[in-house]
Amino acid sequence: MSAQALPVEVAAPPVMRVEGLTMHFPAGGGVGPFGTRRWIHAVDDVSFDLTPGRVTALVGESGSGKSTVVRCLARLYEPTAGTIMFHGEDVTHLKQRKELLQYRAQVQMIFQDPFGSLNPVKTVEHHIERPLKIHHIVPRNEIHRRVLDLLSSVGLSPAQEFAAKYPHQLSGGQRQRVAIARTLAVEPTVLLADEPISMLDVSIRIGILNLMHELKASRNIAFLYITHDIASARYIADDVLVMYAGQVVEQGPTDAVLQNPLHPYTRLLLSAVPNPEAGLTGRRIQGRGEVPVVIDPPEACRFTARCPNVMDRCRTAMPRLAEVEPGHLVRCYLYPNS
Ligand SMILES: Nc1ncnc2c1ncn2[C@@H]1O[C@H](COP(=O)(O)OP(=O)(O)OP(=O)(O)O)[C@@H](O)[C@H]1O
Ligand SMILES: [Mg+2]
Repeated sequence: MSAQALPVEVAAPPVMRVEGLTMHFPAGGGVGPFGTRRWIHAVDDVSFDLTPGRVTALVGESGSGKSTVVRCLARLYEPTAGTIMFHGEDVTHLKQRKELLQYRAQVQMIFQDPFGSLNPVKTVEHHIERPLKIHHIVPRNEIHRRVLDLLSSVGLSPAQEFAAKYPHQLSGGQRQRVAIARTLAVEPTVLLADEPISMLDVSIRIGILNLMHELKASRNIAFLYITHDIASARYIADDVLVMYAGQVVEQGPTDAVLQNPLHPYTRLLLSAVPNPEAGLTGRRIQGRGEVPVVIDPPEACRFTARCPNVMDRCRTAMPRLAEVEPGHLVRCYLYPNS
């Protein structure tokens, strides 16, 4: 075979394109000193793609804006600015109830607390057959079989036994698997998983990550995986975005970002991982202070208060998110073009 005839791996086109996503909330107290409204900058100018069969991780400490990004993508919030394209269509300002329902069936969410999202008086079967019925996924006489297939596909077998159980009869990990099976029922193209393992015992977290890994390949799902634990992002993600105080400070392919972390904040997050290979234990992050609530921010880098490399320039102007190597972007004056 000639070199030219070798099959070329072509990357799938993104199913979701997020550009300049911005979400501001009115700050408590309403108006500022000159009668103007003050705004919390929860998310500022965030851009990324979600691609079938890939996991994109959004990493950052509490308050960095991760869940706000997810809520905008699920169209629970209408963004202040930016665009969300889904299958090439602009869904940023969808308003019609029917359109929103259709969109939300395609773009499903998995939450931190699986118990909170399950009805304690209903069986597992009830939870999974509901979306099958509402969205008319299979004919009525095939619903039971599909429920069992879905339970098996998330590792709950014997499926017949699990179908008859109530949420309190399951472990945390099994409950999260039921929640995942329920989202899969409607055959979504995008799954938004907001801290799906952080409430689970450390010993079972890896099982849920492995399940996500398996599903992205077997069902060609585009995953957005939200976490404060950079070790778990290393384990599962193909691409990573590191967020601080509403902004992306570094983004790119996981290997590039985590093997060669450039932003001082990414380095700080990595320094808190006891052993990058073991990881997943959620040790507390060292460093002064917490993520600030950003209200009408001045022109400055938002990380200055905690940055070990802070320079005068950082306090007077905001660095740009600039490409330092193909696909690897960083927002920091330590690097050219910022
Ligand atoms: N509805 C809201 N109204 C006002 N401020 C909000 C609202 N939702 C979020 N915020 C603020 O926006 C910022 C980002 O919050 P967000 O919940 O997105 O962070 P997060 O990264 O998901 O944090 P956590 O890890 O704690 O879940 C915070 O300062 C938060 O107080
Ligand atoms: Mg959150």
